[in-house]
Amino acid sequence: MTILITGGAGYIGSHCCVTFLEAGHDVVVVDNFSNSSPESLNRVASITGRKIAFEEADIRDRTALERILKTHQCSGVIHFAGLKAVGESTEIPLEYYANNVTGTLELLAAMNACDVRQLIFSSSATVYGEPQFLPLTEDHPLSATNPYGRTKLMIEDILRDLAASDPRWRFGILRYFNPVGAHKSGLIGEDPRGIPNNLMPFVSQVASGRRDQLSVFGNDYDTRDGTGVRDYIHVVDLVEGHLRAHEALAALTDETNSFTVNLGTGTGYSVLEMVKAFERASNQKIPYEIAPRRAGDVAEVYADTKAAEAKLNWSAERGLEDMCSDTWNWACKNPKGYEASDG
Ligand code: NAD
Ligand code: UD1
Repeated sequence: MTILITGGAGYIGSHCCVTFLEAGHDVVVVDNFSNSSPESLNRVASITGRKIAFEEADIRDRTALERILKTHQCSGVIHFAGLKAVGESTEIPLEYYANNVTGTLELLAAMNACDVRQLIFSSSATVYGEPQFLPLTEDHPLSATNPYGRTKLMIEDILRDLAASDPRWRFGILRYFNPVGAHKSGLIGEDPRGIPNNLMPFVSQVASGRRDQLSVFGNDYDTRDGTGVRDYIHVVDLVEGHLRAHEALAALTDETNSFTVNLGTGTGYSVLEMVKAFERASNQKIPYEIAPRRAGDVAEVYADTKAAEAKLNWSAERGLEDMCSDTWNWACKNPKGYEASDG
């Protein structure tokens, strides 16, 4: 039986393909390349030595999804496809609702029609909104402050409603903290288009000389050095959490047919700690200036990891050093991301 991976050409999806192929699973990727390149899948094939089944399609195309689910005899879905930039989501909200919410509805309808009722969903710690307490447990109140976050919350609600309506469904909702790093080989990694929004890709581009300096968004937060604290998690740890989640889904019952877990390390690092760690890993100086706070940012976010340990028998293993050195290795080997390899 085959696992359908939507968004499998993207940053996290491509790493997930490697982990699942290496664990002996068959996978088929569906992607429309709106934020990725087919080259990532060639690299997945190089790393694993396995040919990867791939279908270029949009998840909003229910007919295509039904054909793919049937042709490849899929038994479950890991659902990464979606748009993910917070700032952009405030500018083109309809695109975000259409891609993320409508896309997920079409996917679920296609799955239902094909009797495939097992799905792992990429949610985000953004659904916790402003933390009322730390570490963030899964029962922390949920809220969203931007269209991207609202799409994640809406999709979670849809999945919960569906799980309650029909015991045949099996859902694993995974709330990611801050995925960073790259595969050890340096063949796949994060390849943002344009100016990176997120800290780690920006820092990496400063280290490699593509950008002059980092703007540190605020140094007056109530944190140990005044800069924002986040729970960074190595992308390979993150996708190994998906493998454990896939196994845990099989053990669910009709009474308890879904779970929701945080995927984080439980440890927070500040922006300046990340800068220092990256300087050590890359042996490069990272010039920075202190800039005003970024709208919508919070001081400190980190996960409670107990539910993931109990329900998935999983915890993150890779530390800050690996996160930085693997990011740097990927950046050095691919100074222009996948661009240079695209035909
Ligand atoms: P990504 O943009 O690298 O990957 C998403 C993939 O989905 C891309 O390959 C894109 O081309 C594809 N895609 C988008 N819309 C599609 C559509 N309508 N039909 C088919 N394919 C489509 O992003 P990522 O960082 O790998 O994130 C994967 C998932 O994890 C997303 O749902 C994202 O919201 C979620 N997530 C990511 C982070 C993070 O920091 N990277 C944090 C929390 C949650
Ligand atoms: C951002 C998103 C969040 C999403 C998460 C993972 C916002 C407001 N939030 O969160 O919804 O789930 O990414 O994709 O965009 N920083 C700098 N300079 C930079 C970039 C970042 O100082 O150039 C700081 C930020 O202020 C923050 C930390 O670095 O304190 C991490 O930022 P980032 O990587 O964007 O992640 P989040 O803010 O956690």
